[in-house]
Amino acid sequence: MIKDESPVFGQKLSGAYFTPRDVAGSLVSWALRKTSDRLLDPACGDGQFLSVHPNSVGVEQNPHSAEAAISAAPWALVHKGDFFTLAAETRERFECAAGNPPFIRYQSFKGEVRRRALELCAQHGVQFTGPASSWAPFLVATAALLQPSGRMAFVVPAEIGHAPYAAPLLEYLVSSFSEVHVIAIQNKLFPSLSEDCWLLYADGHGGSTSRIGFTECRDFKPGRQRPKPTTHIAVEEWRTIWSRRLRAYLLPVEIRDIYAAAASDSMSKRLGDIASVGIGYVSGDNDFFHLRPSEARRLKIPAKFLHPSLRNGRAMPSKQITGETVESWTRNDDKVLLLRLTREQELPASVRRYLDSTAGQEARLGYKCRNRAPGTPCQTSSAGLHIELYVGPFGKSGPKPCRCNLHEQRPFSSCA
Ligand SMILES: C[S@@+](CC[C@H](N)C(=O)[O-])C[C@H]1O[C@@H](n2cnc3c(N)ncnc32)[C@H](O)[C@@H]1O
Repeated sequence: MIKDESPVFGQKLSGAYFTPRDVAGSLVSWALRKTSDRLLDPACGDGQFLSVHPNSVGVEQNPHSAEAAISAAPWALVHKGDFFTLAAETRERFECAAGNPPFIRYQSFKGEVRRRALELCAQHGVQFTGPASSWAPFLVATAALLQPSGRMAFVVPAEIGHAPYAAPLLEYLVSSFSEVHVIAIQNKLFPSLSEDCWLLYADGHGGSTSRIGFTECRDFKPGRQRPKPTTHIAVEEWRTIWSRRLRAYLLPVEIRDIYAAAASDSMSKRLGDIASVGIGYVSGDNDFFHLRPSEARRLKIPAKFLHPSLRNGRAMPSKQITGETVESWTRNDDKVLLLRLTREQELPASVRRYLDSTAGQEARLGYKCRNRAPGTPCQTSSAGLHIELYVGPFGKSGPKPCRCNLHEQRPFSSCA
């Protein structure tokens, strides 16, 4: 891609990662039934998908990429501009669509484009309430431009398997297509990208289905045929047992059955119903932000700025964390006191001295500290928790449910 001065066209902000040729060719050849079929790529980049079919239409907001697409596929009609604007206005309908929509995270997918995208999705009955990344609205708006019986094949991020905002998208797809198929690919589809990518196929626009085809495979094998589903997921089961997450179907069926039995047992409770569950916190510089009790005393850091914490998995006792565990950490003078500051707090001179020390200056230059708003509070559990997780033994009547007991304990947090 030729570089453009405007930051919105930067690779990360515009999600401009182009698809390997064999992947593009395979998706297009699956989506086509007749050579006369008109194909849409809603975010065509440099024309990778357009170049493999003579009757194609692309949309691209980056003028340089749009020019590259025109050179790669001189026969194609390439619209320069925002796809959601075009999707709201066009009366054209397509036999098929294929592509790789931009994966722009909600922090960057904002402003007018986001507003237009969400408004268009709402018109099709899809509400993206949470922090939705751009690719999901792209797929809704693309599906809505298909003719009856139309089909589409797209590269999607593996987030389709677990992100909460993937749920309204999948709900829309199963109520708009007679076949929906997701391929979970273990190895990287884009060798140079850190993002794990899966594939989505939907066929029979205008229909609906009560199941989702799911295939788990190690590598993508180029070809006209898509792999056969290894599982047919009942949409009702996906909704009720798996909280509308496909990722659970990566588990072996025996494990899923144990979980399903536990989840439907009236004696079981979900951890989230009785405790606030988080992923912990990112300090940005573990050594600096975790003090030994003796250091805290020497530096005269008041106790209200210190929080006992679990720094890493190695410190995790095999069964449970209790007040006694925390006391033993303190006795051993372990580095367990997290310096926990909030924006609102007035900092005493001792804390300010520590923050301005050489180690503090270095911590400020650390990647995560530079990339987070100053004073971003650590996420900690507000109530202290004592966690016990029991997985019951297998009895004659089958697996016993998992149980979680949470007892109030001292304030405690854990480090991601
Ligand atoms: C992941 S790339 C895919 C390009 C091409 N389909 C491929 O796979 O090789 C996504 C493309 O979407 C474009 N894009 C991002 N937001 C857009 C928008 N609102 N309308 C049209 N194109 C957009 C980016 O400039 C980028 O070229």
